[in-house]
Amino acid sequence: MKVLVIGGGGREHAVCAALKKSPLVDSIICAPGNGGISQIAECAPVAATDIPGMLGLARSRAVDFVVVTPDDPLALGMADAFAEAGIPAFGPFKNAALIESSKVFSKGLMKKYGIPTAEYESFTDPEKALAYIREKGAPIVVKADGLALGKGVVVARTPEEAQEAVLSIMRDRKFGDAGANVVIEECLTGPELTVLCFTDGKTIKPMLSSRDHKPVFDNDMGPNTGGMGAICPVPDYTPELAELCMRDIFIPTMEAMNAEGRTFRGVLYFGLMLTADGPKVIEYNSRFGDPETQAVLPLLETDLMEIFLAVYNGRLGELDIKWSWGSCCCVVMASGGYPGAYEKGFEISGLEEAGRIATVYHAGTAIKGGRFVTAGGRVLGVTAVAGTPDDARQRAYDAVRLISWDGCHYRRDIGGRKL
Ligand code: AMP
Ligand code: GLY
Repeated sequence: MKVLVIGGGGREHAVCAALKKSPLVDSIICAPGNGGISQIAECAPVAATDIPGMLGLARSRAVDFVVVTPDDPLALGMADAFAEAGIPAFGPFKNAALIESSKVFSKGLMKKYGIPTAEYESFTDPEKALAYIREKGAPIVVKADGLALGKGVVVARTPEEAQEAVLSIMRDRKFGDAGANVVIEECLTGPELTVLCFTDGKTIKPMLSSRDHKPVFDNDMGPNTGGMGAICPVPDYTPELAELCMRDIFIPTMEAMNAEGRTFRGVLYFGLMLTADGPKVIEYNSRFGDPETQAVLPLLETDLMEIFLAVYNGRLGELDIKWSWGSCCCVVMASGGYPGAYEKGFEISGLEEAGRIATVYHAGTAIKGGRFVTAGGRVLGVTAVAGTPDDARQRAYDAVRLISWDGCHYRRDIGGRKL
């Protein structure tokens, strides 16, 4: 089969690498892809959100199957467009991708179907939102309704901070129309983790648990990023907890989406917090997480293409998904200044040496004059698998230390204490 993967980050590099191992896959096109992905797939310069462009590419290249990975094309209806064109695609339809693209919808879904989550109210009127904050006090969490590149959430320590967040989201439209509505919710505490699940709407199969590290600096200090690293699996996600989440969260969510006429087929991302009252949903995403995917897929033993086909054909229940024993650690290396402003175009050294001990997924790289240069905020995800979490971490960091460019930075405590 000829497969088209839509996207161009570290997550897509990991998806392409997993598909490359499949005997069912003859060739991979990735659009737009990146420097690293171009080593294992053909990269086509079509933007991930360009629906007519992607349809044209898939038709002209006689693509057999499409994988829609990022949130924005899913929210725009990329999977619907391929279905209408009669080209098989993996990824939820727009009406199901709403579970990520509208927090007002996802919170309403959880309330209606009794899925554990933080108490909340949603607002279309900023004055009412401000009054609610005065009534509730702080800490309190303010969330823009729509997609905001992972930056639409403010965990406010004071009422003033929360009110400022409401005004910048709703009045100043910091995230555009994504801020027409806000959700204001109770601040929960506890460790966070991610469970990505494959689902065809009839069966839901969790992948191994993972944990992203969102703040930019060690010890979870500094502003949030797209994710500075991930581990898989998470030691505190016990089999008992997994069973509880399956019964009270994963299956009820799949069934709730069916009951709403929004059957979800694809990867459903559960961002969970383990509170004193049990696990609660912090957020849903309609796709693979980034960088969780880079830590999860290296432990997948089953052919990923077989899973995509099973989901597409509604036969996920017949497939036994196998995971390898062991542990994976992915350390993100970022451009100086990220998540704020940063420069691009710096030559990256040490990739070959690092590649001998770890897998280096490229997120924001390009090839210039035959050399890899930086081309984004998050540049690389240096990933290692080993028998224990400590060994995986050690190996990932051994590889990280071989790589450098002007201004590069990374966290030194992915998966635990500082190394
Ligand atoms: P989100 O973009 O929804 O994943 O939110 C980003 C981060 O904000 C999460 O990973 C949490 O650390 C934090 N957060 C979101 N909602 C809450 C909440 N209700 N209580 C405490 N922290 C939260
Ligand atoms: N790692 C968080 C996300 O993919 O949204």
